[in-house]
Amino acid sequence: MRSIAIVRILVIVITLLSTWYFAERMFSSKWETRSLRDLFAENGVKEKKEKPKIHTKCGNEKECPENYFAFKLISGAANVVGPSMCLEDKIIMSSVQNNIGRGLNFALVNATTLQVLKTGHFDMYSGEINEVKKFLEPIKEGTLILIASFDDPATKLDDQTREILSSYGSSVAKNLGFRDSWVFVGGKGLKNKSPFEQHLKNDKENNKYDGWPEVLEMSGCIPKKMD
Ligand SMILES: *[C@@H]1O[C@H](CO)[C@@H](O)[C@H](O)[C@H]1NC(C)=O
Repeated sequence: MRSIAIVRILVIVITLLSTWYFAERMFSSKWETRSLRDLFAENGVKEKKEKPKIHTKCGNEKECPENYFAFKLISGAANVVGPSMCLEDKIIMSSVQNNIGRGLNFALVNATTLQVLKTGHFDMYSGEINEVKKFLEPIKEGTLILIASFDDPATKLDDQTREILSSYGSSVAKNLGFRDSWVFVGGKGLKNKSPFEQHLKNDKENNKYDGWPEVLEMSGCIPKKMD
């Protein structure tokens, strides 16, 4: 009787021990798989975070913060290569779009929705300045005005039109001259001068091309208008 009891206890003890042994192996292997999976998951997240750096809107150097939009304006090169405008990664004016021309190139954009309201180009060497005034007259507050020059942006500019362009925040419009390079982003109803403006005087001594200054390229982030 006694030996049977001892055998029973031994069987119980061995069963307990082996259960514990296998249980522990199973759990520890489970933990291992888990932590390995976590490791993979972490790597996956890291890879995803790094991806957007490769492409930025309009090919700009930096991504814009939330509630800002990316833009890039390039003026015409001499009288050869037309200007281009990019807004939030979309080309809105270019030779390929077939909506640019010699003189002044305008894009009117809703500053809240970024919808392009209208584009237009006006020959400022032999065109009609009244066409520019007609184009600008209906502009409402809350409209962004993007401008890029091509060849000659100024010969036909009169004081009244220079005044209108200045009221959009331009510091240059009053002195813009024959064959100057100019890029500008302003707005109807701006109280201050726009920080988004570049200008190069046509100047024989310093011109990059024979009769024209260097191309201007301006990019950055503009705060969206919020109501
Ligand atoms: C811009 O779009 C908003 C929403 O459609 C509209 O309420 C506003 O009048 C527009 N502004 C301009 C200047 O077009």
